[in-house]
This record gives sequence, structure tokens and C-alpha cells, in this order.
Amino acid sequence: MITELEIEIPAPVGVSSWGQAFTNHPMRAITRAVASDPDGWTPERRDEVVKLFDSLAPNWNERDLPERKIAVSDAIARGLAHTPSLPGGVALELGSGTGLNRDVLEDQFETVVSLDISTRMLARLPSGAIGVRGDGSCLPLCAGSINALVLINMFLFPPEADRVLSPEGVVIWVNSRGSETPIYLAADEVDAALPGNWDGVSSTAGFGTWSVHWRA
Ligand SMILES: C[S@@+](CC[C@H](N)C(=O)[O-])C[C@H]1O[C@@H](n2cnc3c(N)ncnc32)[C@H](O)[C@@H]1O
Repeated sequence: MITELEIEIPAPVGVSSWGQAFTNHPMRAITRAVASDPDGWTPERRDEVVKLFDSLAPNWNERDLPERKIAVSDAIARGLAHTPSLPGGVALELGSGTGLNRDVLEDQFETVVSLDISTRMLARLPSGAIGVRGDGSCLPLCAGSINALVLINMFLFPPEADRVLSPEGVVIWVNSRGSETPIYLAADEVDAALPGNWDGVSSTAGFGTWSVHWRA
């Protein structure tokens, strides 16, 4: 069950979020397909996604705006405080892109691994970052080997999330522009897609939305 927390950081009044609102972006259909259907990640969809993000990689760091990290920071600060045991250890940022959120994650976790399917995104990780090329639908990780799975504007692959997380592990889900984000799921959709019974908290911060999930 998801508990909605009160908003502590409202969006600025009279200011719209950056970028276009993308409620019918092609990535939205893929987001829903892979979250609800284990066969939803087809080779055609994978090729489409790699092509898109490889093409966006050269300019991705232009998105490094402070307001884009507000929801990530709120999820870490308030979301993790509600978990039964505050996680540290290893965080996997799946779909890390160029690692724009690494600094926030490194404040909480001892090790942050950036994993992405786009080599052009990974080529732009900051120096010293641990970067791995891989596909979230079949992660190159042992079962139960990570403490947190961080998905920021990224697809959810429920069976792999369940497999690689330790028993006390958490899923951190963030959409930096809330429901206007192309790759978006509401907190209760994430909750429903994860195998088994999970608890969680969710909220809004700035223009973003976030949820943190743990096994009930
Ligand atoms: C919308 S971008 C978000 C990047 C980063 N999380 C951020 O917020 O700046 C989505 C990222 O997920 C990656 N991605 C998409 N599908 C993936 C998959 N199946 N496995 C790993 N990475 C994937 C893309 O290459 C892209 O870098």
C-alpha cells in the first residue's frame, strides 16, 4: 500500500516546468508495456530506445538543472526515512544516462553503479563513476545483490527489480516533471507492477513526483 506524504516543496507559482509536456510521447506506451507485460520489451522497442537515447546523449547534460534534482533529493531525504531499515550499501541507478543524479545518490549510498543501455550516454559519465552497459530487462547482477534500485525517468522491469534487490532492498522511483515526464508511472502503478506485496510512500516535490517502495 502506498501512503501519500504531504508536499514540503511546492512547485513555484506561475512558472511552468521546463520542456514540453509529453503525456502521449511514444516512450509512455513503452513504459506501460514493459511494466505490465514481461514480454513487452521487444527487440524493436529496444532498438527504438537505444536509437533515441544515443541521439540525445550529446546534449543530455544541458538538462542538468537544479530544479530537476528536487524530487530525487526529496525521495532520498523523506522517502528513505520511512523505510523499515534505512538503506546504505550499493545503489544501482538503472537508466542513469550521463549520471546527472549521481551526486545526490552518493550522499546516501557507499557505492553507486550507473547502468545504461546507451554507450553514448555512458561515455559522458563523470570521471571516476562506475558505469556498466546493460539492459534493465536482464541485468548482469546476482540475485539479491543490491540495496537500492534507483529509476529516474526510466522504465520499470518488475521481475528484474524483484530479483536483484536484497530482501530489505528499496525501489526509488522518480519522475522529474511528474505526469508530464515522457517515461512516467504513478506510485500506485509502480506498486501494482512489482511482484508480491510492497509498501511505500510517495509525494510531489517541485515539478517532480517520487515514490519509495519496500517489501511488505
Ligand atoms: C529519460 S533518460 C533518463 C536518464 C537519467 N536517469 C536522467 O534522469 O537524467 C532514460 C535513460 O534510460 C536508458 N535506458 C532505456 N532503456 C534501458 C534499458 N532497458 N536498460 C538500461 N538503460 C535503459 C536510456 O538509454 C536513457 O539513458
